[in-house]
Amino acid sequence: MKTKILWLLTLIMLTVSGCSADEVKTDLPDNSNSEEPAVPTEDRKALIVYFSHTGNTRTIAGYIHDAIESDMVELQTEEPYTDDYDTLLEQAREEIAAGYCPPLVTQIDSIDSYDMIFVGYPIWVGTAAPPVRTFLTDYNLSGKTVIPFCTSGTSSAEESYRLIRSLCPQSEVLEGIQIRRGTYDTARERVIAWLQEIGLINLHKTNEK
Ligand SMILES: Cc1cc2nc3c(=O)[nH]c(=O)nc-3n(C[C@H](O)[C@H](O)[C@H](O)COP(=O)(O)O)c2cc1C
Repeated sequence: MKTKILWLLTLIMLTVSGCSADEVKTDLPDNSNSEEPAVPTEDRKALIVYFSHTGNTRTIAGYIHDAIESDMVELQTEEPYTDDYDTLLEQAREEIAAGYCPPLVTQIDSIDSYDMIFVGYPIWVGTAAPPVRTFLTDYNLSGKTVIPFCTSGTSSAEESYRLIRSLCPQSEVLEGIQIRRGTYDTARERVIAWLQEIGLINLHKTNEK
């Protein structure tokens, strides 16, 4: 009988110690080194910079601006681009082939105060429209988070993302979003879903419009 009681007591002690708080704690994943999500706060400011010739990219910039606490600036070239499509296409081909940076009238004095830069543009001749090349060449975005967004016909945006990564080698370039022609009816929802996917969900403005 004594042996039985002793055996039972030993069993109870082993069971209790096996569930002790200390041991449970060590089984939990260690999150102490997990990276902070790239969410703008009062200390992490976001700026939306975009170029738009016919307004599509401006529309998308507006959706991001509506969803996220941010400032916004539109890039304007010293020489405005023509509205004649054939002439513009020819000019765009030449500028892109030459890696030309059209001078900008837009000046951003406070770029250093931003940590996250959204960069928006139309796809021209398979890549980002040249004013974006000027912006990324003129401003040092080292150490900042760069977030591309673009509008286009049917082309892929990959070449433009490659260009951005090559012009911002010291930046963290996040996954961009591309809005193709004929898909604007769902664009706002897709922009919100994309912002959530890349971890900017709690950027929603407190006083939404
Ligand atoms: C000069 C020029 C070149 C273009 N090249 C392409 C292209 O290579 N691939 C594509 O899918 N769309 C192309 N497009 C269509 C634009 O990317 C599309 O209309 C875009 O939404 C325009 O944006 P925006 O209104 O902000 O200027 C081109 C448009 C222009 C004016």
